Amino acid sequence: MSTQGLQLAERKLHHSPGQENKHADRRQQHLDRQEEGGELLFKLIRNDGREDHMQWLIDLKNLYSKQLPNMPKDYIVRLVFDRQHYSLVALKGGLNGRLIAGITYRPFYTQSLGEIAFCAVSAHEQVKGYGTRIMNKLKEHVMNDTEGGERLDHLITFADNNAVGYFSKQGFQKEIVLDKEKWSGYIKEYDGGTLMECVLGESGRPALPSNSEMKEQKSEVEQIVQSLSKDKQLFNGLEVFRSLPEGEYARVDPKDIPGVKELGFIPNDPPFKILHSSAGDGTPTTENMHGFMREMVRIVSQHQDAWPFREPVDSNEVPDYYDVIKDPVDLSLISRRIESQRYYANLHMFAADFARMFNNARVYNGPDTIYYKAANR
Ligand code: COA
Repeated sequence: MSTQGLQLAERKLHHSPGQENKHADRRQQHLDRQEEGGELLFKLIRNDGREDHMQWLIDLKNLYSKQLPNMPKDYIVRLVFDRQHYSLVALKGGLNGRLIAGITYRPFYTQSLGEIAFCAVSAHEQVKGYGTRIMNKLKEHVMNDTEGGERLDHLITFADNNAVGYFSKQGFQKEIVLDKEKWSGYIKEYDGGTLMECVLGESGRPALPSNSEMKEQKSEVEQIVQSLSKDKQLFNGLEVFRSLPEGEYARVDPKDIPGVKELGFIPNDPPFKILHSSAGDGTPTTENMHGFMREMVRIVSQHQDAWPFREPVDSNEVPDYYDVIKDPVDLSLISRRIESQRYYANLHMFAADFARMFNNARVYNGPDTIYYKAANR
């Protein structure tokens, strides 16, 4: 990836999903204007006897009862009015307006942990961004709230199955980072709920990206890689093979294969020398390699056990040979391949033909046959 691509990827990675999701972005801008105009207010309250707080807690209890029908009402009342629980409420229409959303939580400062008990937005105001806004306000608040030098940097909740999607968009994850001793026995566990945690960083934003952020970042990176990658670029195929009659071969320099150079192929200097008088000065040029191959075929052909390998197996004499051996090779074929000057691009290909020739003999013939033994000698 180029430096420019990396910078682009980095810039995009620092965007939150809200920034990438234009719709959610517009919702949040709309709420910014409501807050700036004083139409939308957030208050942190608890059962401290103040009349306005008590009224909001009653409204909040009613909101939870409606929006969380599976929660026993007396349990909601108990927690909302419990003096160890705090509630952050959103009021629309100023101080005398309607209570439209709330989150009730209990701080455990010694455990650096806040347990979210309830969270709801009134039915008419859902999916307008209030749920996100109030959660962000809560995060901001707990990050600035210390008691005895302790700060809450973990928010934990038992999310109802319907709410798992909402909480994961708010940076909550099912993998719990906080040590179990820190939360077990402190927070109330619900059957059927999913335990979720949000780890808060210094800025109050989740320290760990949420699953949706991870997905979004992954797809951003993939898009950038795709835009820089050449793997979708199609090159014309090799023309040289089109015009060749069947059985003819052409030698192609790798750097002449369309696309190979573009992928960064750098031809290496020859890594070895052929130490044999038949190979000229030993540099593995086509001419030297073929001189050496010719000499090898000559020497092998003169071996006393070479007779089964000099010519192709006669199918009249061995009718099923070509049913068994699908890639037959013999010394005459190897010689023709050498003389074509185009077949053996390197010594590995030449050695592979020899290996195949002897192996074919061992595959077709049993170990006690002269052919099998000749192949081994
Ligand atoms: N499941 C999956 N995703 C949800 C969701 C849910 N139940 N509720 C909201 N979302 C998504 C929204 O589609 C939105 O996604 P987007 O940003 O990609 O568009 C994102 O979460 C935030 O939406 P937002 O408008 O900020 O949320 P909201 O104001 O609707 O509030 C709840 C979300 C869950 C608080 C609200 O729907 C609610 O009160 N539900 C009933 C009570 C409840 O289940 N509370 C949670 C358990 S205590």
